[in-house]
Amino acid sequence: MPYNLHNRNFLTLKDFSNQEIAFLLKMAGELKSAKYAGTEQPRLSGKHIALIFEKDSTRTRIGFEIAAADQGMHATYLGPSGTHLGHKETAKDTARVLDRIYDAIEYRGFSQTTVQTLADYASVPVYNGLTDEFHPTQILADFLTMQEHTGRRLPEISFCFVGDTGSNMGDSLLIGAAKMGMDVRLLGPKDTWPEQDVMDYARGLAEQSGARITLTDDIGEGVKGVDFIYTDVWLSMGDPESEWERRINLMKPYQVDSAMMGRTGNPATKFLHCLPAFHNAETEIGANIKKQFGLDAMEVTEEVFESDVSVVFDQAENRMHTIKAVLVATIGT
Ligand code: CP
Ligand code: NVA
Repeated sequence: MPYNLHNRNFLTLKDFSNQEIAFLLKMAGELKSAKYAGTEQPRLSGKHIALIFEKDSTRTRIGFEIAAADQGMHATYLGPSGTHLGHKETAKDTARVLDRIYDAIEYRGFSQTTVQTLADYASVPVYNGLTDEFHPTQILADFLTMQEHTGRRLPEISFCFVGDTGSNMGDSLLIGAAKMGMDVRLLGPKDTWPEQDVMDYARGLAEQSGARITLTDDIGEGVKGVDFIYTDVWLSMGDPESEWERRINLMKPYQVDSAMMGRTGNPATKFLHCLPAFHNAETEIGANIKKQFGLDAMEVTEEVFESDVSVVFDQAENRMHTIKAVLVATIGT
C-alpha cells in the first residue's frame, strides 16, 4: 500500500511507522530494479539538495549524490571546511538560507540537536546522514540487504549486532528492528550497552511489533542461530583517539572471526558491516593500531571480511538505492 511521505523529515527511525519503513524498502527495491533494467524515471528533475558534511563520508555522500543525479536532481556538497556553519553561522540561520535555495537538506555531523534545528528552521525536508546518536538511512540499506539475502520478511529475520552496542549504529539498528518486529540481539561488553531510555523505547516498540530483543555480553547467547552477524568500528567518528587502548581491550573478545561465525550453528549466517571497516592494517589508522597494539585487524578479521559470507558490498550499494527512495518519497513529483 502506498504511503504519502511528501515533505517529511528523516531525522531518526522514530519519525516513521513500520508500514512507512516497509514502503520505503519496497520503493528502494523497485528503484534498484528500474536502474538495473534501464527504465528509471526521473522524479526529481530541476530540484536541488544541499549535502552538509561536518564528518567524513564515502557511502553516504555518494549515495546522496548519485541518487540525486539518477533522478535528475542537482546536489551541492558542503564539506567540513569552506562553509560558515558552526563556527561563524548558526544552524538556525544556515537552515533559513538553505531553505530559500534548496528543495531538501542532508546533514552529517556530530549533534542530533543540529539536524533537529535544521529541520525546525527549514520548511524543506531534512535528512540525517549520521550523527553521534543515529544513522537512520544506513538501517534502510541494512534491512533491504537482509531481505535480499534471505528472501524473507523482516519479522522472520534474526541478526546480532556485535561490539559497540550503544553507538549510533547499535541504537539505530535496535530501534529499527524493534519497530519491524525482528529478532535482534545486541552483543558486547556491558560498558557499551545502550542507555536505559533507548532500551525502554525499543521494548515499548517490541510490545506492539512482536520483536524479540536480547541484550547480552555472552557470545553463545548473542549469535545462536542468527541469519546475520553485523559489526561496526570500535571507536566512532568524533570519539576521542585517547580511547583506543581502553576500547581495544574491552572489545577484543568480540572481534568477529571464523570461530564466532561458526558459533551461530547456522551454516547460512552472513556477515554485515556498515563500513568503513578495520579488517587489516592497510589503512593509516589500521597501521598505527598494528604498531601500537599489535592487532592485524579490529572488529572483523580479514578472513571473515573477504569470505563468501560477507555481503558488505551489497549493503554498501544499497545505501544509494534506499537513499533514493527517501528522496523520491519525500520530494518526488
Ligand atoms: N556507512 C557509512 O555511512 O559510510 P560513510 O561514512 O562512508 O558514509
Ligand atoms: N559508528 C560509526 C558508523 C560509521 C558509518 C561512526 O559513527 O563512525
